[in-house]
Amino acid sequence: MSNLIDLVTARRSRSKVTDASPSHDELLRLVAAAGHVADHSGLAPWRLVELRGNARVDLGHALAAAAGDDKPSSKPLRAPLLIALVVVPQQSAKVPVWEQEATASGVAHMLSLLLTDAGWGVMWRTGSHVRSPEVHHMHRLEQHEYLLGWLYVGGTDGAHTTRPAAPVDADHFLTSLAEGQDNTEGNERI
Ligand SMILES: Cc1cc2nc3c(=O)[nH]c(=O)nc-3n(C[C@H](O)[C@H](O)[C@H](O)COP(=O)(O)O)c2cc1C
Repeated sequence: MSNLIDLVTARRSRSKVTDASPSHDELLRLVAAAGHVADHSGLAPWRLVELRGNARVDLGHALAAAAGDDKPSSKPLRAPLLIALVVVPQQSAKVPVWEQEATASGVAHMLSLLLTDAGWGVMWRTGSHVRSPEVHHMHRLEQHEYLLGWLYVGGTDGAHTTRPAAPVDADHFLTSLAEGQDNTEGNERI
């Protein structure tokens, strides 16, 4: 297994992939791992849908219908496998929908990382019609379900990406509430 911090740091999206793709069984193994993300009350508010072959053509038709175009969109054909990321909101008095979306999104990021670690090329894509009725219907989603987009997945031929990962300025993103400072100051105005 690769060193986790190196894997996460080096992860890059692949906009161009080859026709190779992970099998259904390989995906099952990775999804079983990705499903271990933090999930308030264990609601499992997510599911995934594999689109291969003609299912991608059907998505191209749905995208065109949503856009009012005559010709089907060829965008879904950019990878041999698309994994639709579905939020499945559960009724809960305790866990609001935004927390459930955070879990579904976490599964998507985790699966993307696991696929990358397994040597596959991955890119999370959406587009302006991802929540359109046509695309919803084409995925056979229930009324209350909705998409977070698709992981486009394919082969890399083992080639490294040409783009190095830009460094993340951790000092910028990580601040602290200073000890000894009155952090309750101004509470009376809230
Ligand atoms: C929710 C979500 C939706 C995205 N949708 C698109 C998209 O439709 N088109 C696109 O070019 N990039 C999209 N991206 C960004 C790419 O997946 C990718 O992160 C970006 O190109 C930067 O590359 P990197 O992941 O190698 O840093 C999306 C990312 C997220 C998290």
